[in-house]
This record gives sequence, C-alpha cells and structure tokens, in this order.
Amino acid sequence: METSTTSHPENQPAKAPAETTVAVVGGTGSLGQGLTTRFAKSGIPLIIGSRSLGAATEAAEILSDSFPEASVAALENPEAVERADVVFLSVPFAHQAATLGSIRDSLRPGQVVVDAVVPLATAVGGRPTRTLGVAQGSAAEQARELIPDEVGVVSALHTVSAAALADHAEPLEEDVLVCGDVKGDKLRVIELLECIPGIRGVDCGRLESARIVEPLTALLIGINGRYKTHAGIRITGLPATRP
Ligand SMILES: NC(=O)c1ccc[n+]([C@@H]2O[C@H](COP(=O)([O-])OP(=O)(O)OC[C@H]3O[C@@H](n4cnc5c(N)ncnc54)[C@H](OP(=O)(O)O)[C@@H]3O)[C@@H](O)[C@H]2O)c1
Repeated sequence: METSTTSHPENQPAKAPAETTVAVVGGTGSLGQGLTTRFAKSGIPLIIGSRSLGAATEAAEILSDSFPEASVAALENPEAVERADVVFLSVPFAHQAATLGSIRDSLRPGQVVVDAVVPLATAVGGRPTRTLGVAQGSAAEQARELIPDEVGVVSALHTVSAAALADHAEPLEEDVLVCGDVKGDKLRVIELLECIPGIRGVDCGRLESARIVEPLTALLIGINGRYKTHAGIRITGLPATRP
C-alpha cells in the first residue's frame, strides 16, 4: 500500500532541495558523472561515492574544475552514504546487491535511496536491449529488500541518458518516472531532481511500477542504437500541478 507520509522522522523536517546533500554511489560511472554534473551546475551539495577514494577524488576534481562554486566531496561509498540526506544508487545490476551490502550499515532512518539500477541482460552476457527477470519483480524491489525498513526507497532516472546529462551545455527535456511506496519520499526526490532545469518528475505510483519502468531503458537503448541519439521520455497531457 502507498502511504502519504515520508520516511523522515516527524521531529526533523526534510531539508529544502538546495540544502539537501546528495551522495551518488557509483558516482564515478556514466550515469553518476552525468547526474553529478547537472546537480553541481544546479548548486546541490554533492558527495561522489566510489569503492576507491582515488577514483572518487578524481571525479570530484573534474567536477570542481568545471563548476568551481559547487560543493563537491569525494568519499568511499559507506562514508559518502553516512554524510548524505539522499543517496542515488547508480551501479550495474550485477553489483547492486553487493553494493547495498557494503552501505547498509551506513544508512540511517530518514534517508531516501534513489535506485537507478536496471536489470539489463548484459549482467549475464546478454543484450542491452533485454532485461532479466528479478525474483522480487524489479531491481528497485530487490533494493527495497536489502535496505533497512526505516530508509525510504524510490526508483528513478531509468529513462534519462547519461550522455544527455553529461552534455551540460545542452538543455534537457526529460521526464523522470518516479516510483515508490511513500508519497513524501517521491515528492522529496522529484523536488530535488527538478532543481535540474529541463527535468520534470512524474509520480508513477508504487515501487512495484518499477517493473514497468526499468525495461524502458532497454527499449531506449534499442531506439538510441537505431536513431544514433540519446532519447528520453515525455508524458503528455499532465496538468501543471502534481497529484
Ligand atoms: N548509463 C546510462 O545512460 C543509464 C541510464 C539509466 C539507468 N542506468 C543504470 O544506472 C546504473 C549505472 O549505469 P552506468 O552506465 O553509470 O554504469 P557504469 O558506468 O558501468 O558503472 C557505474 C559504477 O558502478 C561501480 N561498479 C562497477 N563495477 C562494480 C563492481 N564490480 N562492484 C561494485 N561497483 C562497481 C563503479 O564505481 P567505482 O568503481 O567507482 O566503485 C562504476 O563507476 C546501471 O544499473 C544502469 O543500468 C544507466
């Protein structure tokens, strides 16, 4: 059942988006670099997480060179998670469970983990235009099982191309399909993502809807291959106000 509250403790209201510290676990990768580029440009305080402090530091230095005003730190994944308000998980599906195992003890009540993982068939040597069956229904639901109950889990970003995010001189025109069981957590993530000009968050319902959204990445990979582009998704007909 979807609840209308947030995972945030009631006596500690969630911070405004511009004051929210974001950690990106897998922040050295393609999607991580694209996302941190746009967040840095938008003035969101950032921590690049990695298994390697050296790799995180290198990625943070590149970002700081491009955006000297940005607040960008580099830490190994567990420490990055400890210091964050919202944690983006951006690692290949094959390493999702192990990565969550490595940060589980660093998560705390009130945080939200945003899962961007897609169970592409590449995890078992298959085509990137196919997805794998996941016992829990989706990568996001697998994440939910591996993350403490007091920490929110939202799925997002599957249809946004890393290359489009990284090309920060170009305007974006992207809907981000956001799924989650706690409405307040989804709203928090949508408000954060909408700090990036050209992004609109769309509430796509419960976390189990990630079963529908995650395969769209495989569809877009196929479209991108045929059209030689970085396609995204736009939902038409939405009113200006959120539900
Ligand atoms: N690329 C896109 O356009 C896009 C779009 C939507 C969704 N996604 C999804 O987002 C996730 C990340 O995609 P990506 O293209 O950014 O992936 P990626 O560049 O291949 O990898 C991201 C990061 O994962 C970490 N990683 C790699 N191998 C690992 C291992 N064996 N164990 C633990 N961590 C490992 C690495 O970080 P460290 O080595 O620094 O630890 C790496 O920088 C995937 O699930 C993908 O399906 C991607």
